Amino acid sequence: MSRALARATAVSTNTLATTPVRTRATAITYTRLASRQRPAYQPPTHVRHSSHSPLGASSSTHTRKKVTLPTLAAMHKRKEPITMLTAHDFPSAHAADQAGMDVILVGDSLAMVAMGMDDTSEVVLEEMILHSRSVMRGAKSAFVVADLPMGSYEVSPEQALQSAIRLVKEGRVHAIKLEGGIEMAPQIAKITGAGIPVLAHIGLTPQRQNALGGFRVQGKSTAGALKVLQDAKAVQAAGAFGVVLEAVPAEVAAVVTEKLRIPTIGIGAGSSCSGQVLVQVDMLGYYPPGRFLPKFAKRFGDVWGEATRAIEAYKSEVKGGSYPAPEHTYPMPKEDLAEFERVVDELEKVAGGP
Ligand code: KIV
Repeated sequence: MSRALARATAVSTNTLATTPVRTRATAITYTRLASRQRPAYQPPTHVRHSSHSPLGASSSTHTRKKVTLPTLAAMHKRKEPITMLTAHDFPSAHAADQAGMDVILVGDSLAMVAMGMDDTSEVVLEEMILHSRSVMRGAKSAFVVADLPMGSYEVSPEQALQSAIRLVKEGRVHAIKLEGGIEMAPQIAKITGAGIPVLAHIGLTPQRQNALGGFRVQGKSTAGALKVLQDAKAVQAAGAFGVVLEAVPAEVAAVVTEKLRIPTIGIGAGSSCSGQVLVQVDMLGYYPPGRFLPKFAKRFGDVWGEATRAIEAYKSEVKGGSYPAPEHTYPMPKEDLAEFERVVDELEKVAGGP
């Protein structure tokens, strides 16, 4: 690019229209150069400048009714399995919503799957709020629940309520989830008492992995199974609208499900639960080969394979010069191009060379 043209492109369009290239007798201005044979105004034919619109065309045809707490209660009553999937940002929420998930969970698993942290203990309330806001923009029909992260609710029922209010007011979600059984009943009662629905989470509670001695299946002994049932009843009595049962023997989950009035949502807890939840990146297969996954995390897709295939194809087309092809570029009227080249030549002459 010539020095003159570089200078020209560096200034704003307004200035560009009136600024002389050089103050000299010829007083050539961009205005004069560019205004010779200026063609009549043509409305732009290409108006898209960003990569894609937020919700795409599908949003206008989106007719699914909003899922609410009564919807979930009705599903539970007629024994229709409740489907729940995590989402951590706009596209993952959009996909889950469009594919018909009843409930979307902004789980604190986002610490690992979206933020690359080692475990859920690192993620903070502000991060949960930020991700919840993105999820809410993509979730038009699903009922959305967000996790209270470790440290935001255990201290007192008041702390729990304050954090829950922030997730609803700032994160815009419909309900919150928190980990813990009987010991968290006061927190659940306080939050539900303020009108915020709570989904409880018992069995394997990842936020307490250090106390549990790792990610261990819970309720495998008689005493352990009784503890799971006791926790489930306590969170129900405290007002939870449902309870996640994680990594509990299927038989225990079946008994707990039968003994409760509220739905159980299983993850690694067998098929007798009232619904199921999975982490989206796990079930999509959006992770490199060799990553450890718990046995319940069935892989329904190969998004990692497809993503790396597409990125490698892009790389090789750019390196090989076949992308972008003419169909990926914007056309310009021939006369404008000729005029542009003529102006550039003239500017270079004025500037004394390229
Ligand atoms: O954080 C999360 O994704 C969860 C699910 C595994 C239930 O709590």
